[in-house]
Amino acid sequence: MHIHVLKNTSELAQYVAQQMYQHILERSTTRIGFATGETPKETYNCLVNYVKHAPLNLNGVETFNLDEYIDLSPAHPNSYHYYMDQYVFSPLKLSYDQTHIPRGNTNNSTYEAEHYEHLIKEHGPIHLQVLGLGINGHIGFNEPGTEFSSRTRVVELAPSTRQANSKHFASNEKVPTHAITMGLGTIMESEKIFLLVQGADKTPALHELLHSSPTQNFPASILHSHPNVHIFTTESTMYKL
Ligand code: GLP
Repeated sequence: MHIHVLKNTSELAQYVAQQMYQHILERSTTRIGFATGETPKETYNCLVNYVKHAPLNLNGVETFNLDEYIDLSPAHPNSYHYYMDQYVFSPLKLSYDQTHIPRGNTNNSTYEAEHYEHLIKEHGPIHLQVLGLGINGHIGFNEPGTEFSSRTRVVELAPSTRQANSKHFASNEKVPTHAITMGLGTIMESEKIFLLVQGADKTPALHELLHSSPTQNFPASILHSHPNVHIFTTESTMYKL
């Protein structure tokens, strides 16, 4: 794993966005996996700005999202569909056909998860996968205890994850209890992984990741076995200034 410690959040966003821009620029077609959450928002804003100032042909870009809450419609402001529309798809004018997110509001989530896994297999591999890190070590919504060989499926969210994500909802009870997430095995098939970690609350998880050997109790530790992982963090996250 390569670790990049940037001065602050804004430098992290600019640096990662620049890498993403370059990645797209160098390829006529590419498949990018997107994470949601607080961490990558500024990076996505920077990417949009770079594309605005130095237009890129995005026709060959296809996107796959990591996860989605079950029971939220795409129009729900807390859905990851809504997030992606707001921060990435609309500003970059990506067409509906170029973008893929599991649907959280179907009447058969198990089928939807299998269908999404099949889609990734059929279109894949993902060339560049962006990830965030949960305070309990989750990536996507793969909570502690997840099998390293897991595929895209329906999962129950850990109480600590619902608590951490409740800041975006009116109350803790409004946070969905389940989600569809790419599995750890699915994520590991991506060619290159960018893991973004920032914020004082992420310091313990980052240190655990850096010092742990692969264990199912800490899902992100699987990344030690991937040949091309870049972790981007900030000085204050890394050194707890
Ligand atoms: C969430 C999402 C992940 C995200 C992670 C960190 O629960 N399922 O995809 O990367 O946890 O989120 P944040 O960046 O808001 O801390």
